[in-house]
Formats: sequence, structure tokens, C-alpha cells
Amino acid sequence: MKIGNIEFEKNLFLAPMAGVSDVGFRSVCADFGAEGCFSEMLSSRAMLHNPQKTALMTITAPNEKVKIGQIFGHESEIMAQSVRNPLLDKYDIIDINMGCPAPKIVKNGEGCALMSNILLAEKIIKSCVKASNRPVSVKFRLGKNKDISLEFGKMCQEAGASFVTLHARTLEQGYSGKANYDAIAKLSQSLLIPVIGNGDVVDKESYQNMLKTGASGVMIGRGAQGKPWIFQEIFGNKFEGSKFEVVKKHLTILRKYYDEQWLKLYMRKHFLWYSAEQKGASEKRMILATTQNLEESLEILKQLLK
Ligand SMILES: Cc1cc2nc3c(=O)[nH]c(=O)nc-3n(C[C@H](O)[C@H](O)[C@H](O)COP(=O)(O)O)c2cc1C
Repeated sequence: MKIGNIEFEKNLFLAPMAGVSDVGFRSVCADFGAEGCFSEMLSSRAMLHNPQKTALMTITAPNEKVKIGQIFGHESEIMAQSVRNPLLDKYDIIDINMGCPAPKIVKNGEGCALMSNILLAEKIIKSCVKASNRPVSVKFRLGKNKDISLEFGKMCQEAGASFVTLHARTLEQGYSGKANYDAIAKLSQSLLIPVIGNGDVVDKESYQNMLKTGASGVMIGRGAQGKPWIFQEIFGNKFEGSKFEVVKKHLTILRKYYDEQWLKLYMRKHFLWYSAEQKGASEKRMILATTQNLEESLEILKQLLK
């Protein structure tokens, strides 16, 4: 797949996940083959009013091959300004979030709410494309409560998007039910720009099923939580190295930028995901969920991930 001057070999993407896809996590996923790494969603408004917070979220790792910065908002002028914000200079591609179902986002007319306001969505895409010297892409869902992905995808294409990502669920579904791969197949056949298929890829079998849709690329989100090696295992290459070293690398990168106080709470979920497959470890995992001490967590993970 080629986007502008960017050549992808594996066509594999790590999903944007607010509160999860931090720089350390993106870096370990990139080590295992995630080629395009999306940032957590970045507020176009916050970039203007609270640039320090956004600055922390835009830290990237040198091994992220293709860096994709995802923005959200509902004002075309502010969105276009954010595309030109120096904080986003490091990104190879700018992605617009039109799929987030979180109530506080939807209430503001942002994220997936834009699928119910196609004229505004089109205006936002056109102004971001005009403001950008890089490819602009759009990530969206099936629609609010029914599948309008074909109509919406065609609009994105005509408005100048270089590719689109379809998370094949409706806003109302949230994360429940199964992603609709038929909708991904239909969209892939109908658009001239590449379509990235997203939803429920968790192993080699589901990856193969996603490829059958004819999508040009595949994006993985929750399947990578606690399992960044999924990006190699979907090809049948089992990861035989040290999982503990991966966890250590994830944490070591974050320690460069974040204080211990914040990290010890933030890392709990990652530690629980990393140890999720350890059977009979409920007592130790309970400590991971409650301890105030990162070194204690590392010691436990060292034993669990042997
Ligand atoms: C914790 C969490 C945070 C997410 N944050 C974002 C986000 O910031 N931007 C976005 O476009 N999608 C976000 N998503 C949606 C994912 O990018 C992806 O579309 C969804 O999880 C389906 O893919 P999966 O089945 O591979 O997880 C988030 C999902 C999760 C679970």
C-alpha cells in the first residue's frame, strides 16, 4: 500500500487508543511489526489552549516507522489550525477521528457524531486537507445505528482523504457484538483510496479473515493490549523471546517522560494485560492491581512471565 510517498510493506497498523497507546506501547508494538502507529486522539482545541498536555501526548519513539497523529474536534477552522500546529510536525500522516463513541465526545458533536452531520464532516476534511502538506486520513464507524459507511467513505474520498479506516461497528454498538467484515469488504471494493479494516483482529485466524475482505491494510487495537507480539504472531511466528524484557522496555521509555507517581497508577492496566494469560496467578495479579510500587510490579511480572 502506498500513501503519498510512504510505502507500506506489511500494511499493519496499531490502533489509536486513548489512555493505552502511549509512546512506550507504540514502540514495543513497532518492534514486532506495527508499521503505522496512531497517536492517542489529540484535541484540536486543547492544542491551542493547553499545548503542554498535548506536547506530552505527541512524544514519539524513533522506531515508529510511520507516525500518524490523530486529531478530533468539531470546528473546521480550529481543526485546520491544529493540522498546522508545530506539535504535529513530526507526523507523516494526519488522521481525523470520526468514530469515537465516548459520550463526552459525541455530546460535543465530535468523533462519531460527525457521521450524523455529513456536511460538517465534509467541511472538516476539506479544510484539514487544504491546510496539510501531508496525507490526511479519516477513521470512522458504520454509522450511528445503521450502516452508512459506503456513503460516508465516498464522501471522505471526494473530500480528499488519502485513505480511510473502518471500525465496522455502529456508535450504538460501542464495543459489543461482532465487527461487520462484509461492510469492510463492500467499502474496499467501492473506494479508489485504500481502506484499512478494523475490529476484532486478535490472532492469525481473525487476521486472515480480515484479509479476505480485500482491505488494503489491517488495524489492531485491543488484540495488542498486553500482547504487542501479536504483530508478528499473526504471521504464525510465535514470539519465543522474553516477554518480561518487552514490559521493561515499555516502562523504561515512559520513565523518561512521566513521573513515578503517575506511572504507578497508569501502568496497572498494562501490567494486568501483560499477565492476563498467566493461569492461577490471581493473588499476584491482585498485587499488580493495587501496589503503589513499580519495582514490586516488575518483580512480580518477572516471575509470572518467565
Ligand atoms: C481504550 C480504547 C481507547 C480508544 N481510543 C481511540 C481513539 O483515541 N481514537 C480512535 O479513533 N479510536 C479509539 N479506540 C477505538 C480503536 O481504535 C479501535 O477502533 C477499536 O478498539 C476496534 O478495534 P479492535 O477490535 O482491534 O480493538 C479506542 C479503543 C479502546 C479500547
